[in-house]
Amino acid sequence: MNKMIFLNGQFVSQDKALVSIKDRGFQLGDGIYEVIRCYKGRAFSLNEHIDRLLKSAEAIRLELPYSRNDLIEYVKELLVGVTWDYADIYIQATRGVAPRTHEFPAAKVNPTVVMYVSQSHGVPERTREKGITAIIVPDTRGTICNIKSINILPNVLAKQAAVEAGADEALFEREGVGVVEGASSNIFAVQEGVLSTGPLSPYTLPGVTRDCVLQLARSQGLPTELRFHSRKELIAASEVFITSTSKEVLAVTSLAGHKIGDGRPGPITLKLAKDYRALVERECGL
Ligand code: PDD
Repeated sequence: MNKMIFLNGQFVSQDKALVSIKDRGFQLGDGIYEVIRCYKGRAFSLNEHIDRLLKSAEAIRLELPYSRNDLIEYVKELLVGVTWDYADIYIQATRGVAPRTHEFPAAKVNPTVVMYVSQSHGVPERTREKGITAIIVPDTRGTICNIKSINILPNVLAKQAAVEAGADEALFEREGVGVVEGASSNIFAVQEGVLSTGPLSPYTLPGVTRDCVLQLARSQGLPTELRFHSRKELIAASEVFITSTSKEVLAVTSLAGHKIGDGRPGPITLKLAKDYRALVERECGL
């Protein structure tokens, strides 16, 4: 398996993959990232993830020293020899190493770009059949949640709150807007046969999985709507599910202490989960 790490244009072993304590990612959280799921060594939705990385970079005015094609080639290189059923590619780019100032460095510095692959695991079948439990927490984040930045302390704290409550995910509730997304997922609901999820906005990450699921639903003629939901609406929905690169399409069967629907994953959730998996299998040639 590939134990090499991509660091600033070179593939090095883990013990040589060292980043300075003066890196702006470490000191200021001044950077962006991506997570790409790989199935038997094939990256799913690679183009979409690289495109989002480039958008995040542009949004924080970070000039990456690699082209879109270079990045895709580096990812493929990392996957040579990888045969794990599930793996994740992690990519992080920061504004580089410089004396600590809040504003951008005065002198031109090279960004720090790191990529590595690690073994991962799919969601256990039993969890898929049962669905997961989620809590709702206040959204303490700002209004640049559409950028996949490495500044995710509120998400870390929300996820820890979920763990301490015996739940699997925490959903952010934003005053005056609704329940916008999960700590590491997007949210969907089904009400009277209509599938809905939040619109693209400063309050949510434009999830690659969310987009795939919307496309799948639309191609099947399932009515879809882009809007946020209140806590009350979500709890009363017939189905709720989350989407993410690692969880794919996963039913939420208990939310803020309330059973969703009959407490089991609903038919639309199960169908979309199955169709999403079929798409993965087709694209990754499984
Ligand atoms: N997280 N919203 C947030 C806040 C996320 O962190 C994620 C993904 C998503 C779903 O996006 P996608 O479908 O593109 O994975 C939504 C990744 C998996 C992570 O941080 O590990």
